[in-house]
Amino acid sequence: MKNFSAVILAAGAGTRMKSSLPKVMHKLSGKPLIKWVIDSVSALKPDGIILVLGCGAEAVEKYLSESGVKIVYQKEQLGSGHALMQAEKVLKNYAGDVLVVSADVPLVKSSTLSSLAGNNKKTGASVTVLAAKVENPFGYGRIVRNGVFLEKIVEEKDAAPAEKRIKEINSGIYCFDKNLWKALSKVKTDNAKKECYITDTVAILKESGRKASLVMVKDNYEVRGINNKAELSQAESILKDRKIKELLSSGVSIVDADNVYISYDAKIGVDTVVYPGAFIDTGVSIGKNCIIKGASYISNSKIGDESVVLYSYIEGAVIDKKVKVGPFSHIREGSVLRENVRIGNFSETKKAIIAKNSKVNHLSYIGDALVGENVNIGAGTITCNYDGAKKRQTIIGSESFVGSNVNFVAPVKIGRGVLVAAGSTVTHNVESGKLVIARARQEVKRRKN
Ligand code: UD1
Ligand code: CA
Repeated sequence: MKNFSAVILAAGAGTRMKSSLPKVMHKLSGKPLIKWVIDSVSALKPDGIILVLGCGAEAVEKYLSESGVKIVYQKEQLGSGHALMQAEKVLKNYAGDVLVVSADVPLVKSSTLSSLAGNNKKTGASVTVLAAKVENPFGYGRIVRNGVFLEKIVEEKDAAPAEKRIKEINSGIYCFDKNLWKALSKVKTDNAKKECYITDTVAILKESGRKASLVMVKDNYEVRGINNKAELSQAESILKDRKIKELLSSGVSIVDADNVYISYDAKIGVDTVVYPGAFIDTGVSIGKNCIIKGASYISNSKIGDESVVLYSYIEGAVIDKKVKVGPFSHIREGSVLRENVRIGNFSETKKAIIAKNSKVNHLSYIGDALVGENVNIGAGTITCNYDGAKKRQTIIGSESFVGSNVNFVAPVKIGRGVLVAAGSTVTHNVESGKLVIARARQEVKRRKN
């Protein structure tokens, strides 16, 4: 799909959100509203994407610094039509169509945008409006028809009582041909909000003899505008319900769908069971036949088949198959747990690669470490990885057995098959096959009193 450019309107103050964060930076299923819209638009590979920023521009710009969208500014928020005018200098000599999307309509699908973008050519229209028929049209611009044809759009605050009863609404998403700019220059501000409305271009184009057309969305949820936190929360529920339906129909078991949170982008394999309390955030993929139980939080992580997560917090980790995490483990950024590893009660790992069959079952901290295969780490073992200036590495060879309450003062390297006595504070490297005891010998003395 080509021959159009997209303009995303995101300069509005978003006052109805009652928040210090710019409206379009509010997150929906872990992803800012603006990114939802950019992603759906980008999927169509338009000739260009122009983003109109104003209120809170700095935060949005920072977030989008590497996205390749062109940013223009609307210094004063004089209305959606005025916002679109700011893109004129970039698109003045552009011959293709202009797809205009409000940044606060995050659920619109690429496929819908694609049929909208193709509609002017198909119908000979100068503008096509994406519209929906809804039960409660309150707050939206109404679609006023003349027979089957689109005549104009009337905003809620300007609508006559009969117009308020119209249930066809404007989604805030349009596709214009090059007559847009002239029509936009004719928009007046004689309305309830004294703003320059983009929606007035429809009547102006009609008056100048151009055709206006409509594309109706199939699913109304796609065009829900987010103007306040209630609408944001409703959109969140819509997304979650969609995701849960998709997962259930693909063979995932979700014991109590009302009591889990699963991000839109989660990938979960068949026969995995997600129990109440699970919070599966963005960037997670979970294999087949896994169990995710209790208040577990998982983000940006990959979990292999037949693994079990019990009441644990997992972020930025790679977990292979048949691994058991928890109850109450903290698996942090850069942890790699190979097949059949066990991380147990109150143990924490960070930037630790733990090879297969190894166990860290109780009360341990394993950070900046390489742990070989078949290693048993005793309860309360700590890798002392931070010397106050730098993080240092601990290496523990395969087949080693680490007794309880051992400190590894990094950097330190333990060979293969080493036995580390309980209570040792290991400060020097140990060769393979040795027994190391690094603790004060027990003395028993006579009591004085
Ligand atoms: C708008 C439409 C309405 C439609 C609804 C759909 C107008 C006049 N009305 O109403 O017909 O049913 O969206 O959700 O457009 N913006 C700017 N600069 C401004 C004002 C707005 O960039 O000065 C941007 C906003 O950031 C937002 C979009 O334009 O992305 C729409 O503005 P908003 O104030 O949310 O309009 P609605 O009242 O929702
Ligand atoms: Ca809006």
